[in-house]
Amino acid sequence: MTATERPTVLLVFGGKSSEHPVSCLTAASVLAAINTDKYDVVPVGITAEGRWTLVPVEVAAAMKTVDGQLPTVSGEHPEVVLGNGGVLYRVEGEPGPVATIDVAMSLMHGPYGEDGTIQGLFEMAGIRFVGSGVATSANGMDKALMKTSFARHQIAQGPWQLVTDPDWVQRREQTLARVAELGLPLFVKPARAGSSIGITRVTDLADLPDAIETAREHDPRVVIEHGLTGVREIECAVLQGRDGAPPRPSLLGEVRMLTDGFYDFEAKYLPGEQVALDIPATVEPELEAAAQALAVRTFEAMDAEGLARVDMFALPDGQVLVNEINTMPGFTQYSMYPSLWQATGMSYPELIDELLGLALARPLGLR
Ligand SMILES: Nc1ncnc2c1ncn2[C@@H]1O[C@H](COP(=O)(O)OP(=O)(O)O)[C@@H](O)[C@H]1O
Ligand SMILES: [Mg+2]
Repeated sequence: MTATERPTVLLVFGGKSSEHPVSCLTAASVLAAINTDKYDVVPVGITAEGRWTLVPVEVAAAMKTVDGQLPTVSGEHPEVVLGNGGVLYRVEGEPGPVATIDVAMSLMHGPYGEDGTIQGLFEMAGIRFVGSGVATSANGMDKALMKTSFARHQIAQGPWQLVTDPDWVQRREQTLARVAELGLPLFVKPARAGSSIGITRVTDLADLPDAIETAREHDPRVVIEHGLTGVREIECAVLQGRDGAPPRPSLLGEVRMLTDGFYDFEAKYLPGEQVALDIPATVEPELEAAAQALAVRTFEAMDAEGLARVDMFALPDGQVLVNEINTMPGFTQYSMYPSLWQATGMSYPELIDELLGLALARPLGLR
């Protein structure tokens, strides 16, 4: 059942989503921290067009931002494909098998990374992989599916509505009236995006149709929520338990906006003076316990595996609501998830080893 003595790890990065460059930085971060005495590492960079290329370890490890220019997968390296049993074949230059993969770790976010598609490819190839499976990844990516799952499991969340393409095209007036009942302010979001892309905060119903159109530029499925005010944004890094033990919550982190805006794309990637990340957060023990318990319950309810970051809102009255689960949270050395584990007592190299160990220990096929 377990893999070879010295497992071969496939690190997949880059990819077709807008988070391609961030993924390259993550790969360099992971390559600097992974224990190469214990694992053989095969980096595969997916170009923005979707070609899988075999990137030499030294090249992948050296990816960094140069003069404000974020790294990308160049496409100059030989193309490879993943075959049954985890055999990685070179299909360019000298064709033939180059490695047999024991465990894969996708370092990509967003569509084609954390939405179940690459997880399906790993399942088809019959290899173990870090993180959640197909259904959980897909449910975590689509905010409407995610919120429906939360509701089914009685996970506390704020009120929301889904606006589908037929809702918008065939019954717009009815749909606007239904959404207005949520009460201002509103948060209008593409169901499947991430990084706050396409999200608008609406404070006047006159602006609602434009906000819906903006979200629809990214996804015909639009999720609209009542905007919570006076809340704290709290995050918890959850790690699967070993040998069937319950999931482990980290200390909490807090995203503190220093302006009156929300945690939008700019605040996430061009932080400047807009946002403070408290790792760990300064929270009362009751809030810490409640948020950690909710994060673990969310991880279990969604059937998550490996890792997930659960983002929550703490209300002034002490209630905690879940905003979202991210099945492939930001994973550079400086990102919230690894930083929270660092603060909790597990270093970045230890965390990577733990995730690979959990993936190698799990059975193949339906679990
Ligand atoms: N219902 C809400 N009430 C208040 N703020 C919200 C709400 N929904 C989203 N936000 C703000 O918008 C940010 C991005 O929304 P989120 O749903 O987390 O999108 P993404 O998946 O792109 O991260 C949140 O971090 C928060 O600052
Ligand atoms: Mg978010």
